[in-house]
Amino acid sequence: MHVTVMGTGYVGLVTGAGLADLGLTVSCTDVNDEKIRSLQDGQIPIYEPGLEEIIRRNRERGRLAFSTRLPEAIRNCLVVFVAVGTEAGPDGLPDLRQVWAAVDMIAESADGYKIVVIKSTVPVGTARRLADRLRQRPPGAPQFDVVSNPEFLREGSAVEDFFHPNRIVIGTLSDRAAAVMKDIYRPLYLIQTPFVFTTPESAELIKYAANSYLAIKISFINELANLCDAIGPSADVHVLAHALGLDPRIGSKFLHPGPGFGGSCLPKDSRALVRIAAAYGCPLRTVGAAVEVNERQFERVIEKLRQGLGSLPAKTVAVLGLAFKPNTDDVRESRAVRICEVLRREGCLLQVFDPAAMASARRLLGEDGMGYCSEAYEAVKNADATVFCTEWNEFRNLDLQRLKQHMRGDVLVDAKNILDPAAAKRWGFRYFGMGRSA
Ligand code: UGA
Repeated sequence: MHVTVMGTGYVGLVTGAGLADLGLTVSCTDVNDEKIRSLQDGQIPIYEPGLEEIIRRNRERGRLAFSTRLPEAIRNCLVVFVAVGTEAGPDGLPDLRQVWAAVDMIAESADGYKIVVIKSTVPVGTARRLADRLRQRPPGAPQFDVVSNPEFLREGSAVEDFFHPNRIVIGTLSDRAAAVMKDIYRPLYLIQTPFVFTTPESAELIKYAANSYLAIKISFINELANLCDAIGPSADVHVLAHALGLDPRIGSKFLHPGPGFGGSCLPKDSRALVRIAAAYGCPLRTVGAAVEVNERQFERVIEKLRQGLGSLPAKTVAVLGLAFKPNTDDVRESRAVRICEVLRREGCLLQVFDPAAMASARRLLGEDGMGYCSEAYEAVKNADATVFCTEWNEFRNLDLQRLKQHMRGDVLVDAKNILDPAAAKRWGFRYFGMGRSA
C-alpha cells in the first residue's frame, strides 16, 4: 500500500519512517524545499534515537522517499497522513491554518477516493469539520473519508513508542476507512496492541485527555515535593512517590518531581483542553490547576539558588541540561530555558551545557550573558552554583569531587533529583533537591 505523509516535523518523520518499516511504501512530503533537500541528502533535522537508522534502512529498500511534489504523491496513494504543525495561536488554541491548507491541497490534487488521516493534535470537532469541507466538492469529484488517529509518541523514545504503542486510536465514521487503518497497522495488531475504534470526536478528546492527565500527575507530585520542602528534611518526596506508585490504581509513572513539565505537547495540550472545555461551558478545573501549578514550579529552582547564594546579581551559575527532557534537542517550553532567562535578568552570568540542545538553546537565548560550554566540567568552572535541569544519564555519573574542585562555590541545586544527596554532602556541597534534602 502507498501512503503519503504531509509534514516532516517530528510526528511526520517518525510516522513516515515507522510506516515504511512496517512494509508500506511511504512518500514524506513538505512544503519546505530546503528541509526535503537535506532529508534527501540523509540529514535528519531532529535528534531522535534510532530514527536515522530506520530512515536509512527504508530509503535503501526503496520504501521511503522525500518529496516536495505533493500533488503527485497524493495521486499515487490511498491514504494521506496529515502531520503538519499546529502550534498554539494567540488564543491558546492550536492554529489550524496548515491543517486546512493541507486538506485543501489533498482535495485539489486527488484523482480518486482518499482517506485523510489527521495525526496533528486538533480540537474536538475538527475532523468532522474537515470532512464537511471535503464533502462540499462539485458532483463527480473524488470521495474522501476522514480519520482522527492521534499519536502518543514521546520525544526521545518515539521510535520505540511507534513500534510498541500502548494503544492505537482510530476515530472515524467510515467502516471502509476503519478497515484500511486496521490493515495499515496490522503488524502492531498482530503483536496484540489494543485498538480503540471510535468517533472522531472521542479520538480527538482522548489525545488531549491523555496529555492533560499526565500533566495533572506531574503537577500533583510537584506540589507534594514543595510540601516536603516545607516540612523539612524528615519528609522525602521520593519515598512518598515510591509508596504511592505501589498502588496500581495510582501507578509509579509520571511521579517524578522537578521544575515543571515542558515540551511541545503537555503545556500546549493541557492549556488547549482548558480552552476547549470552557468553550463547551464545562470548565475543567483539575486541568486548569495543573497548568497554573506548572507555570510557577520553575520559580522554586530560582528560590533555592537565591537561598544558597544569598543574592543572585553577579553570581556565576552553571546550568546543566537545557532540553525539556533527556534524549532530545528540543527546547520548546523547556523549564531550563525559563530558568536561564530569569537568572540572566537577575544579573547572573550563565555557563551552560547540554549534550544535544546547544544549538537550539542558543537560537532562543542568544549570546548576552551566556557562556556555551562543550562539556559539563567546563560549564562548572569557577561557578558559584550548579543547577541540574535535565536528567541526562551522563549527568547522573558525574564525578562530584571533580565538579566541586572546578567550582568556586558549593551550591548544588538538583532540580531533577538525579544525584545522591548524601554523596553531594560528603563532597562538600550544600545540596538543594526538590522535596528532599541531604
Ligand atoms: C508527551 C506524552 O508523554 C506523549 O504520550 C505524547 O504523545 C506527546 O506528549 C505528544 O503529545 O506528542 P513528550 O512531550 O515527548 O510526550 O514528553 P513527556 O515524556 O511526556 O515529558 C513531558 C515533560 O514532563 C518533560 O518536561 C518531563 O521532564 C516532564 N516530566 C515527565 C516530569 O516533570 N515528571 C515526570 O514524572 C514525567
